[in-house]
Amino acid sequence: MKTLIFIGSPRKKGNTASLVEELVKRLDGETKIVSAYYCNVKPCIDCRYCWNEPGCAVKDEMQQIYDDIQEADNIVIASPMYFSELTGQLLAVMSRLQTYWCAKFFRHEEPVPKKKRGGIIIVRGGDGELKKAEETAEVLLHDMNAKSVGLVFADNSDTIASVEDKEIMAGIVKLAEALNIKEE
Ligand SMILES: Cc1cc2nc3c(=O)[nH]c(=O)nc-3n(C[C@H](O)[C@H](O)[C@H](O)COP(=O)(O)O)c2cc1C
Repeated sequence: MKTLIFIGSPRKKGNTASLVEELVKRLDGETKIVSAYYCNVKPCIDCRYCWNEPGCAVKDEMQQIYDDIQEADNIVIASPMYFSELTGQLLAVMSRLQTYWCAKFFRHEEPVPKKKRGGIIIVRGGDGELKKAEETAEVLLHDMNAKSVGLVFADNSDTIASVEDKEIMAGIVKLAEALNIKEE
């Protein structure tokens, strides 16, 4: 089983990274992490190459990530909430999924044939609006042919470290269990 995890936090030992570490400990098979702030992936420049051609004209680390997306059984999006959204840096990386949307809309192709399970982890300092970040994560999972099987909201991360919160950790355990289910 292969799980690809996108992390949207700049903090290498922050709440999002720590929750991902706990998730990885509980996942079967291989895991690969793409860290939005530290990978070599440029944002989509809307060059429109993918309106007519498969893939992406921008040659950087995303080319490998496209292969990883194809192979993955699970895809997890883990991000802090910034201004009620996923972080801008994560969205910059994810803008490169536009090639998948163009494949469907303009070229009438199925860009990611293999169905995947999806997971979402959203960390937030406060306890405000959730819907926007959750919906964005679901749209991105959908672009990669993944459907969410579990969602962990880690609230009040600026007051209590997310990994110290029993309820949040129970959510991580549940998410790992859902992602580990073997398809017949
Ligand atoms: C630029 C910025 C915007 C933020 N916006 C929100 C917000 O809209 N709602 C919220 O609850 N917390 C917000 N926060 C707090 C972060 O979600 C919180 O500190 C979180 O723990 C950071 O995740 P990390 O520890 O994984 O880096 C914001 C933090 C920053 C730096």
